[in-house]
Amino acid sequence: MTKRSFASDNNAGIHPEMIEAIKAANDGHVVGYGDDPITERTIKLFQKHFGDHVAVYFVFGGTGANVLGLQAITNSYQAIICVETAHVNFDECGAPEKFTGCKLLAVSTPDGKLRVDQIKPLLHVTGVQHHVQPGVISISQVTEMGTVYTQKELKTLADFAHDSGMLLHVDGARLANAAVSLNASLKEITADAGVDVLSFGGTKNGMMYGEAVIFFDKKLGADFKFIRKQGMHLPSKMRFISAQFEALLSGDLWKRSATHSNRMARLLASELEKVPHIKLTQPVESNGVFAIIPKEYIPELQKSYFFYVWDEAISEVRFMASFDTTEDDIQEFVDLVRRIVK
Ligand SMILES: Cc1ncc(COP(=O)(O)O)c(C=O)c1O
Repeated sequence: MTKRSFASDNNAGIHPEMIEAIKAANDGHVVGYGDDPITERTIKLFQKHFGDHVAVYFVFGGTGANVLGLQAITNSYQAIICVETAHVNFDECGAPEKFTGCKLLAVSTPDGKLRVDQIKPLLHVTGVQHHVQPGVISISQVTEMGTVYTQKELKTLADFAHDSGMLLHVDGARLANAAVSLNASLKEITADAGVDVLSFGGTKNGMMYGEAVIFFDKKLGADFKFIRKQGMHLPSKMRFISAQFEALLSGDLWKRSATHSNRMARLLASELEKVPHIKLTQPVESNGVFAIIPKEYIPELQKSYFFYVWDEAISEVRFMASFDTTEDDIQEFVDLVRRIVK
């Protein structure tokens, strides 16, 4: 069997229950582009989790979910405020700028979180015709640094956004990990906190592919079916994305998988912490572990395990646990780390 690594939850395979769901959906012909009974059922399931009033649209991937969700709620003369490390700012090859036409105003942050005090200084241009107009605050939950916004922090950002005439967009590629970390429901950390638009991720939590764009006020998504099609994210065989989401959300699979990957990350972190010369750089609140490993040891470790150096300047690396990470995987990796880093 190919060895599992800790490079990314994207590197994991597909959860066997997803394969079963795809197989079960692979029966006969149904109408394409979302007019099928599985999609209809699954949208109702989303409404059960996120609130009766939400509008839900499935897309192929996370970048598409972010970009199109943002496009739906912005004009090109507006700005999207985010952190420098945000996926929308750093990892989407300028797609948000290209498709929304908006300027991204990215502020630096030590822990991946955006705070009201960092946003306030950007608002003095509001109403001035020479400047892009702050329109959206975009945050990631879980953040790119593996940290998790508390419900209070989310509410503070949402209230501030609304009081300032802006909307709150959440990149929830790992929202399930955040929910289990906070011991909260999906609704409590989105609708109840005041989120306006959400990208809800399935891929990092065991799906083969597929993400959802959720509008908590249907009016915001009124044109989304056109934006999705024009944005090349209308899946023709939609039923296979819907079937995976149905498997994820109909029972406790979303919770089980996220609880497991979070627990594996904590275990990995607690083992790495015991190794001299290794220093954790972020609290482990989800399935990500960030640590400084002196750079002379990294090439040797990478000969056996592929992983990313997150910040070259300080020799910080990122490890991610997945739904299929085992305690044995961690033991094997940590044994190697102990042999090399000394
Ligand atoms: C925080 C975050 N948002 C969004 C994405 C979605 O990316 P993709 O377009 O690769 O599905 C990722 C993927 O790594 C991510 O980490």
